[in-house]
Amino acid sequence: MDFVEQLKSSIDIVKVIGEYVRLERKGATGRYSGLCPFHQEKTPSFSVHQQRQFYKCFGCGASGDLLKFVMEHDGLTFPEALRSLAERFGIPMPQRNEYSDADSRLRAALFEMHEAAADVFRENLRGPIGTEARAYLDRRGITAELIDVFGLGFSDPSGQSLVRRFSKYSAEQLEQSGLVRKRNEGTGHFDSFRGRLMFPIHNESGKVIGFGGRAMRDEDQPKYLNSPETPIYKKTTVLYNLHRARDGMRKGGRTVLVEGYMDVIGVYAAGVREVVASCGTALTNAQVRAMHRHADAVILNFDPDNAGQNAAEGAIKLLLDEGLHVRVLTLSGGDAGSKLDPDEFVKQFGGEAYRAKLDGAATYFHWMADRARGKFDMRTAEGRVEAFKWLLPAVQKVPDKLERAAVVNDMASYLGVDPSMVLDQFKRAASERRPAAPVVTRTAIPSSERILIEALLASPRVREEILPQIHQDMTASFVTREIIEAFRHVESEDQARVFADVEGRLSESARALLHDALATDHTEEGLEEELAWSQAKACLERLQSDGRRRRLSELKSQVKIAEREGRVKEALSLYGELEQLERETRSRAS
Ligand code: GTP
Ligand code: MN
Repeated sequence: MDFVEQLKSSIDIVKVIGEYVRLERKGATGRYSGLCPFHQEKTPSFSVHQQRQFYKCFGCGASGDLLKFVMEHDGLTFPEALRSLAERFGIPMPQRNEYSDADSRLRAALFEMHEAAADVFRENLRGPIGTEARAYLDRRGITAELIDVFGLGFSDPSGQSLVRRFSKYSAEQLEQSGLVRKRNEGTGHFDSFRGRLMFPIHNESGKVIGFGGRAMRDEDQPKYLNSPETPIYKKTTVLYNLHRARDGMRKGGRTVLVEGYMDVIGVYAAGVREVVASCGTALTNAQVRAMHRHADAVILNFDPDNAGQNAAEGAIKLLLDEGLHVRVLTLSGGDAGSKLDPDEFVKQFGGEAYRAKLDGAATYFHWMADRARGKFDMRTAEGRVEAFKWLLPAVQKVPDKLERAAVVNDMASYLGVDPSMVLDQFKRAASERRPAAPVVTRTAIPSSERILIEALLASPRVREEILPQIHQDMTASFVTREIIEAFRHVESEDQARVFADVEGRLSESARALLHDALATDHTEEGLEEELAWSQAKACLERLQSDGRRRRLSELKSQVKIAEREGRVKEALSLYGELEQLERETRSRAS
């Protein structure tokens, strides 16, 4: 067995995918389903088949095996996906480095450099150059334990720590890492982060892929310096703290979304594990999907300043579009009734008070209505109508009809508009909504072909006795011809092996077809031998009779041509053949 096969046969695809997608078992059948991680959806069309070890999404058409999933999901090359799985499951990789290419070598070097940089920053913080930073953290109430959990560090103000440490890397690797930069004049490099408090940023599997660096003094700008995009750090897809938060997200069924690194740490200190932030960029769809993979509800707790509230408005829209349940927490209680960000609130009032606020957070709609009241002049009828129109799109995202109607009522009284007008506007807007466009076009597989494939897979007897009678010319017009052909090479008796065997012989497109053919609900366990046999037999008979019909019409026209051209002998012999075939057809039909 080669290494790839060995790896695939010793790791269960359900276990791996289950770490990223909440999978629900469907019956006792070894099929699991959940929300597709590759496209945006509200109801599950993604399924994983345990017995056959593949995944398939009916929404976007994504499909493949364990390795393909890891490659696509984590954005890895094939060798990287192999290595990542091998490491995770403790399977020793072969010595010979055949699964390595330039791209994955570069990325491996970048991961290594980030790991080393995190170490250096941590040591700096503990050592003599970290005195000021330690005092700063202390002032902000960040304990030694939190420093440890979040791997906080400090970057050397002289800008030489990393450069010295990285002497073994090439100039290309150095520059691609984003951790050091080339001098404008002269030669050599210097560290990108200098004299900053360092927050390591991890990917979902817990590897350091970048840093956020906070200035220690107000006059140092920018306040936060973040790693640039690199081959291992894609800002739009990363959520800060996701790798630590995801267990809590699953257990609690909710995510607390905050704005900043410090907020994450503060909320974590309050005993809330399910907290993430989008490292200082506007929230993206990819980040929203990442949250949805682990929990259905989000509590938004952004900063109370203008920027934070505007960001919240944008975030709410994305979250609702993804079908998440959204609540918003705005924290008041600061001096002179001012509002607080999560970090400050927890410091002033403690974890318990914060957790109570979270549990009591109101649904997004209340927040939106308050915002509408601030945006429009509520003293005039026009202003109230404008406010109402502004709120409409959000209300329409309430998925449940009854709930939606209740919200409309609430809204009318809250804004002081006539409920009948509300209803009217609401209906009009609803009828203007366009239906969602279908997502993908796929080749449809005729059910006869699907049944034949199922039977071939299920029954060795079908493969031995029926398949040889299905001649290549009978399947010439099959959508799944390549798959049927692949079955001719199968020798094993074991179903899972047979599947792997067939799959292994197929082109990418045929493999997708195979997954398509087998992903329908009733094929979980495969057919029983008996049923497989009778279905295959029926299929064979149909193919044979189709063949005879074709041959009949062919013969008829050949006879005509021969007669017309005066080839009497040939016409007679063709005619004999025609009669024979007609007799045969009649006897079969009776
Ligand atoms: P403190 O101000 O120390 O409490 O940190 P914070 O995490 O609360 O930061 P803040 O609320 O000011 O900003 C939220 C997030 O936006 C930060 O965690 C950073 O990710 C990002 N951010 C803030 N300022 C900057 C900046 O100047 N440049 C960049 N690139 N990102 C920033
Ligand atoms: Mn803050």
